Amino acid sequence: MLLCYVNLYIFSMITLSKLLLSFGVSSLSKRPKISVIGVGYVGLCTAVGLASRGYSVIACDIEVEKINKINQGIPPFFEPGIQEKLSECIRSGMLKGLANETDRAVVETDFTYVAVGTPSKPDGSIDLTYIESVALNIGKALKQKNGYHITIIKSTVVPGTTQNVVLPLLERESGKKCDVDFGLCMNPEFLRQGSAFQDTLNADRVVIGSHDKQAGDKLEALYRDFYSIHVPPIIQTTLSTAELIKYASNAMLATKISFINTIANICEKIPGTDVKVVAEVMGLDKRIGPQFLDAGLGYGGSCFPKDVKALIACSEAFDYTPELLVATENVNKYQPLKAVEFCRQQLGTLKDKQIAVLGLAFKPDTDDLREARAIPIIAQLLAEGACIVAYDPVAFPTANVIFKNSIRYADSVVGCLKGADCCILVTEWSEFKKLTPDFFKAHMKQAILIDGRRIYDPQIFNKKLIFSAIGLGQ
Ligand code: UDX
Repeated sequence: MLLCYVNLYIFSMITLSKLLLSFGVSSLSKRPKISVIGVGYVGLCTAVGLASRGYSVIACDIEVEKINKINQGIPPFFEPGIQEKLSECIRSGMLKGLANETDRAVVETDFTYVAVGTPSKPDGSIDLTYIESVALNIGKALKQKNGYHITIIKSTVVPGTTQNVVLPLLERESGKKCDVDFGLCMNPEFLRQGSAFQDTLNADRVVIGSHDKQAGDKLEALYRDFYSIHVPPIIQTTLSTAELIKYASNAMLATKISFINTIANICEKIPGTDVKVVAEVMGLDKRIGPQFLDAGLGYGGSCFPKDVKALIACSEAFDYTPELLVATENVNKYQPLKAVEFCRQQLGTLKDKQIAVLGLAFKPDTDDLREARAIPIIAQLLAEGACIVAYDPVAFPTANVIFKNSIRYADSVVGCLKGADCCILVTEWSEFKKLTPDFFKAHMKQAILIDGRRIYDPQIFNKKLIFSAIGLGQ
């Protein structure tokens, strides 16, 4: 009988703690403290995600302006969903920003995430300057610190970097031994801009590369607590495998896009074919799947272009040319120029023609223009003498830095279309999806529309406008 009560008590406690966890309350009496170095998309989402689930977090960056904004509860970039959570975490004191104080961030916490940028060098290989400088500072801080500490590389780095670059710096600067005095993990992120915060809270998988089991297990325990009752698959690997998983995943997605864009280019040669239908049916095959088969003007952003280049450069350093990835990159280089080709087909010369460009960001729900397809399109249109009027719902400030006075900026779709000879849909913002053929006709000088993202129904648009679209054989 007593045993029965004891069992019932244990069962109730487990259920209660699961229930508490589901409300974001940890059953652990002492939760680890976390620091995050680098507050770009990845770092800030990680910091706010952890702080919003009850961990005490220090966010650190060398850009004082960014940290000032964060401490006022203002995200330094546009990312849906993060604004409210950030200000909540700052108000509650669970998150605080520190500028240039890596040592304090390390000494005061148990885990340090490194989420600094790894930009491309001119030859495509990655620039490790920021990683090296942060590793150096963490190493110095570890020297002053008593007790075990885990450093986690979240930045995308080519295979071998954590082991051969970060680890020696940490050991040299701290005078301590990895595995014994401190731990080192590589934990790639798979966040998509525009849904980066949601992706942080709901991951498909967590990959933990570790130098030794102790560090890997401790980080796994942190994630099990963080995800509480919805723990995604957690896979522990070596450091280099974790690094390669990230590149392989992005290279696969980029290749899928270049593949479907190649099919789109074939469709355009064969009357009666439509890449949208082809992709939809291909996607029904479970082995292929429907995602990342949207043909368009190619991929942009801070990851795919940079990561494909870096993986090519890294392979070449090992005397291997990954031809498939070289082709992926080449297809993507020419894909945006299809929009200009369509313009020429409809207008002849582009000299003094007014072209309306709808959407500048590299994808919807972000103000980011890194490697945006709008950049090569606009450059080519300008080179051929066209005048550009562009509209993007949020990316004006970032676009202005790139295009400056070379183009005009409209503050609405109507303003963008007014007097235009042709319109190119470059980014598929949801507000553009609602536009009708009559709307384009009513506002443009010539009703010529190029759908670069396949958001309009050709059956409807073809009847009322001069309409061209990626992957439409007509
Ligand atoms: C990507 C990865 O998805 C993410 O896992 C990784 O961590 C970072 O890189 P992101 O760059 O935010 O995320 O954007 P994503 O939604 O993947 O789109 C990248 C580019 O591919 C965009 O320019 C988008 O327009 C383009 N794209 C995407 C296509 O052209 N077709 C598709 O079917 C999907």
